[in-house]
Amino acid sequence: MRIAVLTSGGDAPGMNACIRAVVRKGLCEGMEVVGVRRGFEGLISGDLVVMTSRSVGDILHRGGTILKSARSEEFKTEEGRARALRQIEMNGVDAVIGIGGDGTYRGLASLAAMGVPTIGIPATIDNDIGSTEYSIGFDTVCNTVIDAVNKIRDTASSHERVYVVEVMGRNSGHIAIASGLACGAESILTPEIECTMDEVCARVKDGARQGKTHSIILVAEGANSLARQLCPEVAPGQKVHLIGQEIGRRTGFDTRVIMLGHIQRGGSPSAADRILASRFGAKAVALLIAGEPVSAVLGLFEGVMRSAAFDEALMMRRSCKMEYYELANILSSL
Ligand code: F6P
Repeated sequence: MRIAVLTSGGDAPGMNACIRAVVRKGLCEGMEVVGVRRGFEGLISGDLVVMTSRSVGDILHRGGTILKSARSEEFKTEEGRARALRQIEMNGVDAVIGIGGDGTYRGLASLAAMGVPTIGIPATIDNDIGSTEYSIGFDTVCNTVIDAVNKIRDTASSHERVYVVEVMGRNSGHIAIASGLACGAESILTPEIECTMDEVCARVKDGARQGKTHSIILVAEGANSLARQLCPEVAPGQKVHLIGQEIGRRTGFDTRVIMLGHIQRGGSPSAADRILASRFGAKAVALLIAGEPVSAVLGLFEGVMRSAAFDEALMMRRSCKMEYYELANILSSL
């Protein structure tokens, strides 16, 4: 059996650990493994490299992806997909394992619909895939945010300031909520939970009355409603600045704004992400060997790995952990 592995969409720490697991488990099972460079773009152009055990040496601890990643517009067209299918056939590829987020899953689902056995592995820092509780990269990004906020707190405390910190997550608040609980943010703003400027400012002032010398407000990049209450036409990059300005104006606290940006996508994967990536990679190969079901996505629920059909997986929705949000609010309110 000749299998291909690709990474696609936004990179996530742990993708390399997953590639390593696919390649080495595949080789152990007597398969031939090829890597596809630049995701679906490489599938269209036939940019394939034969992977050996050595190709994946010294990568377990590295962020990013050695196979490179891309968001392919061409693969969204029928012609692009037909070209990819021709390359798959010409290169004798029997199955494809794709590592990425929901955009990757949509691409993989169309491959599966063309009759190519396909396995999807969830990897996105956003953790916004409905068919898994955890995706590769989420634990590491939370640690990165926590580390940044620890440093911000040092200076916030020294200067008695409010810091408004924007984190990634696209349209979801998973990163903001989990890291907000873990770093003791005084307020967490997410796309899923409506809140008003009065509520946010009241929390800052209440904290000050109770002797808090500084506050951290974590804002998910997709949390639009608060900024839109202030200015309906606000540009994405300006939202957090607008929120910071208004908090400063209403509370009288010296307020600073930080967008953590793409540093959240980099860095050495955490232990949890390395373990998850290794398990998912090996399981994907095992599913192909078992042959049933021919195409599927992998997920993890309460520590147990499960697989689901693409159609089913793409329909699944998983809300943010409200219990984390509520706990974070309780613990930072005093
Ligand atoms: O999906 C991962 C992610 O980092 C999101 O959190 C963010 O909105 C987006 O990708 C940024 O994409 P790009 O790297 O293309 O700017």
